[in-house]
Amino acid sequence: MTYVVEARRVKAYYITHAYGVKRTVKAVDDISLQIKEGEVFGVAGESGCGKSTLLKVLLGHLESPLTVVEGSVQYNLDGHPVDVLSMTEREKRSLRWRQVSYIPQGSMHVLNPVRRIRDTFHDFISAHRPVSKSESLEMARAYLNTLGLPDKVLAAYPHQLSGGMRQRVTIALATILWPKLIFADEPTTALDVVVQRGVIQLLKEIQQKEGSTLVLITHDMGVHANLANRVAVLYAGKVVEEADTHSVLKAPLHPYTQYLIRSLPSLDERSERVSIPGTPPTLDNPPTGCRFHPRCPFVMDICRTVDPEMSSVRDGHRVACHLITERADYATTA
Ligand SMILES: Nc1ncnc2c1ncn2[C@@H]1O[C@H](COP(=O)(O)OP(=O)(O)OP(=O)(O)O)[C@@H](O)[C@H]1O
Ligand SMILES: [Mg+2]
Repeated sequence: MTYVVEARRVKAYYITHAYGVKRTVKAVDDISLQIKEGEVFGVAGESGCGKSTLLKVLLGHLESPLTVVEGSVQYNLDGHPVDVLSMTEREKRSLRWRQVSYIPQGSMHVLNPVRRIRDTFHDFISAHRPVSKSESLEMARAYLNTLGLPDKVLAAYPHQLSGGMRQRVTIALATILWPKLIFADEPTTALDVVVQRGVIQLLKEIQQKEGSTLVLITHDMGVHANLANRVAVLYAGKVVEEADTHSVLKAPLHPYTQYLIRSLPSLDERSERVSIPGTPPTLDNPPTGCRFHPRCPFVMDICRTVDPEMSSVRDGHRVACHLITERADYATTA
């Protein structure tokens, strides 16, 4: 099987030197992922675990002090494999937006405050295609209509729109050239629950209409439950579990994923919400062995010294935890 995106054993660190002291933040530490064509691939995990950094690496968007110290990222669009980390700026520019699109974290604040939305659409479209102002306006109007968004927003300035509408406009802008691959970083996070639903619906529609692949980053497991086909759970710069969304939600195997799921609000409120004990580690000096071991209720001696490798438990369900290999009964009783 070929994958649209394939990351192999990637290590990406923030390496800084201040007053002669070198500091290395291991934000992405040995991550491998295989993303299939047409799927919604979710990336979950607490604040600071490396989600946005992973996305920057998958985009080949590396700015100092972020450095890839090992590993590779490959795209397979149109059957042409490309090595993302060795692309020139020009090659990246030619892929960006037409084939690969990016909705950055906090993106509803990126719209130019002194330009009407229609001018921003024109600036964007004309940067990639030779279009007149009236052609770009027509494209924008038609696209907003397809997505069920009111085209009167085109005449507005960003501050005249609600936060939820601004976010929907940003998503429409980022996807108007029908990219095959869309990366979205916390697209619903700053929004209240009712507005979130509209944004989730919009992303679903765009992804389904074109069969594009969506890589969706959010700490909100509820959003993954609604949108993602598969989910990878990150903890302190590493993937600790990866499976189809149903298995992650209903039969999580890693103790960290189990905490994440149990800390979700449940509608019936019969089960008590559980918070995760302790705090996430700092990534410039992460714990030895399994990085979750200081917070893990099932910690064993081996966890303090040996970093567990990802292993396959069932078809497509992978987890990095010594309980799986050391305790034969674990996967069946968890
Ligand atoms: N420019 C930088 N220089 C040094 N360290 C950084 C830099 N940017 C991020 N980091 C560190 O890298 C780690 C991962 O950060 P990242 O932004 O990828 O996390 P995240 O999972 O996206 O968090 P959030 O959910 O809050 O968006 C954090 O420890 C963060 O402090
Ligand atoms: Mg982030």
